[in-house]
Amino acid sequence: MSNTQIKRPVTANSKLNAWVQEMIQLCEPAAVHWCDGSAAENQALCDLMVKHGTFIKLNEKLRPGSYLARSHPSDVARVEDRTFICSKTKQEAGPTNHWADPVEMKKTMLERFKGCMQGRTLYVIPFAMGPLDSPICKIGIEITDSPYVVVNMRIMTRMGKIVLDKLGADGKFIPCMHSVGAPLAPGQKDVSWPCEPDPKKKYIVHFPDDPSIWSYGSGYGGNALLGKKCLALRIASVVAKREGWLAEHMLILGLTSPAGKKYYVAAAFPSACGKTNLAMMQPTLPGWKVSTLGDDIAWIRIGKDGHLYAMNPETGFFGVAPGTSKQSNPHALTSCAKNTIFTNVVLTPDNDVWWEDMGVPAPAHGIDWEGNAWTPTSGKKGAHANSRFTAPASQCPVIDPDWQNPEGVPLAAIMFGGRRPSTIPLVNEAFDWEHGVFMGSACGSETTAAALGAAGVLRRDPFAMLPFCGYSMDDYFAHWLSFAKKTDRAKLPKVYFVNWFRKSAEGKFLWPGYGDNSRVLKWICERVEGTGKAHKTAIGNLPTPDALDLKGLNLTAENVKELLAVDVAGWRNEITDVAANYAKFGDHLPKALNQQLDSLRQRLG
Ligand code: OXD
Ligand code: MN
Repeated sequence: MSNTQIKRPVTANSKLNAWVQEMIQLCEPAAVHWCDGSAAENQALCDLMVKHGTFIKLNEKLRPGSYLARSHPSDVARVEDRTFICSKTKQEAGPTNHWADPVEMKKTMLERFKGCMQGRTLYVIPFAMGPLDSPICKIGIEITDSPYVVVNMRIMTRMGKIVLDKLGADGKFIPCMHSVGAPLAPGQKDVSWPCEPDPKKKYIVHFPDDPSIWSYGSGYGGNALLGKKCLALRIASVVAKREGWLAEHMLILGLTSPAGKKYYVAAAFPSACGKTNLAMMQPTLPGWKVSTLGDDIAWIRIGKDGHLYAMNPETGFFGVAPGTSKQSNPHALTSCAKNTIFTNVVLTPDNDVWWEDMGVPAPAHGIDWEGNAWTPTSGKKGAHANSRFTAPASQCPVIDPDWQNPEGVPLAAIMFGGRRPSTIPLVNEAFDWEHGVFMGSACGSETTAAALGAAGVLRRDPFAMLPFCGYSMDDYFAHWLSFAKKTDRAKLPKVYFVNWFRKSAEGKFLWPGYGDNSRVLKWICERVEGTGKAHKTAIGNLPTPDALDLKGLNLTAENVKELLAVDVAGWRNEITDVAANYAKFGDHLPKALNQQLDSLRQRLG
């Protein structure tokens, strides 16, 4: 790997070459490296990071090809309050996004990026979201000064020479600028996790009209791996609206019945609600099989036959480590058994990793995510609550054979959900598409550690897209509603709302969750087939008490009743809260949604 300035362009794409040259002038790096995506390049970067203290090589016998990174304590999660959508007008960004004037923000970005890579290498990462031959594949070029970003992007996206080849001399790309915001003066010693520690000086900026992305000051996850939340959700949602498809915060799974029939389901849950667990679930129901297509993002378009087809634009999992165990998600553990980057977990004495609720005993002593000596009795968590593993999707033992199918897979059902200790039943079927869109718009969840801010408060998170929708959410709702006109209604997937997190009055979870969620999925498949039993209630079609296959579970009849009850008082509060959230959109809210709310109010009586 060369550490000197590359003068000769490695692509014939003159727009790309011109842009890279312009960014070199702006950022003033000491060296430039065009990433080819090869294994040799990856190894050289990992070795470099080990040398500089960013990476710790894990035990090759226990965790082959894997590394541990520890971030700066100020840089541990997505920074939603520093995330900006710079559409021409504030109205286009809508009331739920932070808008900034695009001209002003461009100026700020140019100031921030001026000389920001001094003393560092500027890496050019060509990457593709989606299989290269997918009709909706999008190419991005991320420029970054973080080798950590390069090796993570290599797991999370299709990356390197193959993408430049696809781009050719005149292909279009989305420019994605990233800097950790920590230039090095001559002779200045580097730190293991360079970043801008002042939260007010971090910027995650989207210019949907270019489109382009500028991210400054953070090296962590969705702030820095720009293919993920920035491109595949915020920018893609804008492009998808224009091109007539959907970019969603959804997992995609395949479910095969004992009779061998396969159903594909996409599901939206707010961050850290168990999407990765559900995507690779091991069903407890005999004969049922789950296969994984994606755990975070789904791009959905109408196929030639009028059905909705979903595709995962990513190639890896950026999963939350704490809570991932043999019991909760054995397939995630296998996925990260090798060739994985761990960030902010505990280092054990035998150079392996550990985190809370991993399902194996904690080491007697270790090094915590902040690099300090740690013991299980120290009274502090060893792994950060938002610590992660970056693992190749291909290592998932139940990866679906069609996960890279450029056409995607046809959806039988769409699920929405959230962490809701009360009111919301275990599963609820929408009466029709509009009611399903209403359910998506009313999504809410208790907050978790995936974003900075208080945890455990109910936050309305429509379609689990609140932090990820690149335009006004009222227009986004309208876009969802429009699918009933874009295709034959009968071909649209059925829509469900699920809640694995319902608690009893004593604060205990009423539903076992994990592999037992297959019982709910089975009912959904039966509904798709027209055989599942349900009764119409004020809030939707709920399973009759005998409709769910609960064999082998020792749930009391009372618990089942509570899980499937319509809590009228709770729903009245729910309506008030959803209406308050709708009020943000004023007249821009699609009328169909207010009608849904009115009808629900009337049905509840
Ligand atoms: C994620 C998130 O990291 O949703 O996937 O926060
Ligand atoms: Mn996510």
